[in-house]
Amino acid sequence: MEPETKEALDNFVDMSLITEVLYPVKSGKEATVYACRAHPDTGAEFLAAKVYKHIRDRNFKNDAVYQEGRLYGNSRERRAYETGTEFGLDVHFMLWVGQEWEHLKKLYKAGVYVPVPIKNVGRAILMEFYGTEDGPCPILQQAKVPPDRAPELWKLLKANIEMMLQADFVHGDLSPYNILVDLEDTSDPLRIIDLPQAVDARFNPNARDMLERDVAITYRYFEKRGVQDNPKAFVADLWRKWKRAEL
Ligand SMILES: Nc1ncnc2c1ncn2[C@@H]1O[C@H](COP(=O)(O)OP(=O)(O)O)[C@@H](O)[C@H]1O
Ligand SMILES: [Mg+2]
Repeated sequence: MEPETKEALDNFVDMSLITEVLYPVKSGKEATVYACRAHPDTGAEFLAAKVYKHIRDRNFKNDAVYQEGRLYGNSRERRAYETGTEFGLDVHFMLWVGQEWEHLKKLYKAGVYVPVPIKNVGRAILMEFYGTEDGPCPILQQAKVPPDRAPELWKLLKANIEMMLQADFVHGDLSPYNILVDLEDTSDPLRIIDLPQAVDARFNPNARDMLERDVAITYRYFEKRGVQDNPKAFVADLWRKWKRAEL
């Protein structure tokens, strides 16, 4: 574990939010998610800590499209970001963690099925662990969704996409990799995760295209499992309602 990661997780121990880090759930390009034992005071048994890697250990994907409309004016931050200086990358990195945290809080408040936000310190975000003592729930891509459950999950996902837009958000990276499913829990079977790139539909000119893509990618999964729907009509209808402030 990198020293920066250990330090980030130690903060949560010091704050009596977790008592120990159990195991890494997954380590990606930009972040590692750890399963943690929750402090009894939190009322939870487990919590998930997403720790963004230190700047020197990361690869940045080209995210100019996501940043449009977010870094305003000709600020020092904007210039540094655009010129790719270390200061710029650092600013970028703090934006990325901060954005995921802000999006998580806002979407949770809006009723979207995202993990419950617990705490953000520096590069780490502590949230609800979606899983059991046996481990985390699988991503949709790896879940064995029987055809008879597919229509209900697609309907719930559409309701969540609608709730996000109602809160002026488009996820921007929605796919079977960023949806966790718990087939055992029929009353609460999914979580939408991985939110740093989400955009504000009011300000981002790419929002509608991103929404189309989110819906197309996730519909493809359900279509293969027998769901019949019209994703383009769903997006058109949703967008029109949102524009008219009818959502
Ligand atoms: N709240 C959570 N509860 C359980 N598992 C999680 C949670 N958040 C993330 N994970 C797991 O960690 C993986 C990576 O998280 P994600 O936010 O998608 O980061 P990234 O894709 O940027 O690495 C997910 O695919 C999922 O398996
Ligand atoms: Mg992901």
